[in-house]
Amino acid sequence: MTDRTGIFSGDDPFDIARAWLEEARQEEPNDPNAIALATVDPEGLPDVRMVLLKDIDGQGADGSFVFYTNYDSAKGRQIAASGKVAFVMHWKSLRRQIRVRGTASREEGPQADAYYDSRALQSRLGAWASRQSQPLSSRGALVAEVARVSLKYGTNPTRPPFWGGIRIKPSQIEFWADGAFRLHDRFQWTLDGADRWQTARLFP
Ligand SMILES: Cc1cc2nc3c(=O)[nH]c(=O)nc-3n(C[C@H](O)[C@H](O)[C@H](O)COP(=O)(O)O)c2cc1C
Repeated sequence: MTDRTGIFSGDDPFDIARAWLEEARQEEPNDPNAIALATVDPEGLPDVRMVLLKDIDGQGADGSFVFYTNYDSAKGRQIAASGKVAFVMHWKSLRRQIRVRGTASREEGPQADAYYDSRALQSRLGAWASRQSQPLSSRGALVAEVARVSLKYGTNPTRPPFWGGIRIKPSQIEFWADGAFRLHDRFQWTLDGADRWQTARLFP
């Protein structure tokens, strides 16, 4: 039994996440889809940085979250090595957060091509020009590299093979909302061995 009501109600955690993100789009001044993405390096040392969540796909045991990045970046290499990530989204205006833990793998199919093609030309060329997370001698060197790839790839570049989506398949999702006097509401959804989501209310 659960006493999930109001903003926490529903049978599917991805539907709830989509609804909360939609609310945040109305309230947050900037980047309502920003997530703090955590990875671990080979020594087990955590790393974290912001990325933009671009898709919440599917439902139930097949639901997933997608963001885009350079596969050769620090995060890209850490994900390739561990296959594990966590992220948190926090909306100051709504006083809510969503926490996610799970596995991650590349999304390099038509969905990644379509997203790449939807971006502004300068952003598409920027993806080609940036060796993300590598040392850069100067801003001028980056500008020169953008000019070089512009000449090489023109106005209709294809998606670089080293740039694309990361699809996160969660095993745990937690919805948190601020309550009076720190008596917050927390509901944790966990995927069980039979691929069914189980929910539990947690002490705040
Ligand atoms: C609001 C915000 C959104 C960002 N979105 C992305 C993104 O979607 N993809 C990305 O690769 N980097 C994004 N960045 C930059 C990353 O935070 C980070 O600097 C970069 O990806 C390199 O991280 P790494 O060296 O850990 O791989 C964003 C930064 C901010 C502040």
